[in-house]
Amino acid sequence: MMKRDEMSMAQEELNAALLGFGTVGTGVYKIIQRQRPEMMQKLNTHLNIRSILVRDVKKHQSKVEDPSILTTSFEEILEDPKIDLVIELMGGIEPAFTYIRSAMEAGKSVVTANKDLIAEHGGELFQVAEENHVELRFEAAVAGGIPIISPLKNSLAANEIRRVMGIVNGTTNFILSKMTDEGMDYGDALAEATRLGYAEADPTADVEGYDAGRKIAILATIAFHSRVTFHDVYTEGITRITAKDISYAKTLGRVVKLIALAQNTPDGIEAKVHPMLIPENHPLASVSGSYNAVYVDGDAVEDVMFYGRGAGEMPTASAVMGDVFSIARRIVEHSLGSTRDNVYRNIPVKKIDNTRSSYFIRMVVEDKPGVLATIASIFGNNSVSIEQVIQKNKIGADAELVIITSNVKERHIKDALLILESSSVVRQIATIIRVY
Ligand code: NAP
Ligand code: HSE
Repeated sequence: MMKRDEMSMAQEELNAALLGFGTVGTGVYKIIQRQRPEMMQKLNTHLNIRSILVRDVKKHQSKVEDPSILTTSFEEILEDPKIDLVIELMGGIEPAFTYIRSAMEAGKSVVTANKDLIAEHGGELFQVAEENHVELRFEAAVAGGIPIISPLKNSLAANEIRRVMGIVNGTTNFILSKMTDEGMDYGDALAEATRLGYAEADPTADVEGYDAGRKIAILATIAFHSRVTFHDVYTEGITRITAKDISYAKTLGRVVKLIALAQNTPDGIEAKVHPMLIPENHPLASVSGSYNAVYVDGDAVEDVMFYGRGAGEMPTASAVMGDVFSIARRIVEHSLGSTRDNVYRNIPVKKIDNTRSSYFIRMVVEDKPGVLATIASIFGNNSVSIEQVIQKNKIGADAELVIITSNVKERHIKDALLILESSSVVRQIATIIRVY
């Protein structure tokens, strides 16, 4: 470790390169400009953005003080010995994976917000970081501006984490909030989320639950010290949620939220993302707009909740810059360590069929005597008991039925629904939503 007077003579400037200059990249550039007057006091060095990798220089010229820092050549950045740190904010798997790996092999530490990469190739990348004695940090990859990666890895390290649950996608939470609170149409709400910079370049990742799936894979890996990849996570998005479901939820004193859940059970890890009916008085019910919240349940700490902006230019840039500052301090203090991902267990991940939940099932059925009894017996024959039949609205000659089941195995629900679908009394199974 360096003494304080040695530290004060430390590196006069520290240079970073940005890969990608979209929503988050622009936020990072703005924060560095904003923080410039106090950079020396905070970091004991000047932090500069020396290069920005873009695809089209002209498109971005007006956003920077000195357009000569814009480049279309990654090799230029890789070969620049003055660049200590690479901040990847392009997104997607390639070329981001190759760029990050090459940067670390060239001795440069990396900060990224790329959950796709960390959830799919985290293992390989951490190995490269370790082999090359550089840091790889990714706080912004999960829940935007909320500090959750570092608290899980550090502050909660002494806990046996049992469960991580929350709202980890800003776009879908924004859409569901707009649909619930303002009756906004799904398409309009998605367009607004995109305009505000919350949505991914391809918003399918948001609305189909893939983005949240990647985030919960990352959180589960850190929480349980066992590799969980995106492919292990069951994902279901919000595209089938209608205004009608939201209205039924209201009648039931509940709200619809896209929930990501990972828990370590005696027979394996459960990792899933799906819409859920949450009681109106549950703390997650009041998390609206682009806000996210993550609950962590540890054996020592019990419940901790993290809450804040889950997406957007400046909140996400804040998380990126937290990592940048942290690495910069270590570079200045000559205490740069390599990042280890601390995966030392090999716990199986359960198939969704073996998980349990209570279900809200909205269906259109033939409106004649005995139909309810037929439906109840199909559920009963498949080990599904009904807790509530909440509504029966007329739709022409048919009727709409909403059923809430007790807590049952997913496999049993699927079996029952298969039979119901082919039953002559059922016209349509309109929606299935899990209930908290
Ligand atoms: P974005 O607005 O689409 O910006 C990405 C930028 O990267 C674009 O400017 C794009 O260039 C550039 N780019 C893509 N491929 C490139 C390449 N091969 N060479 C050079 N530039 C390239 O995306 P973003 O919202 O800033 O997100 C960036 C990353 O942060 C993603 O991994 C995302 O998942 C993550 N993230 C975003 C948020 C958020 O709220 N937006 C929050 C947390 C994490 P063009 O302009 O030419 O297309
Ligand atoms: N598209 C993501 C979201 C960005 O809406 O949450 C933050 O990771």
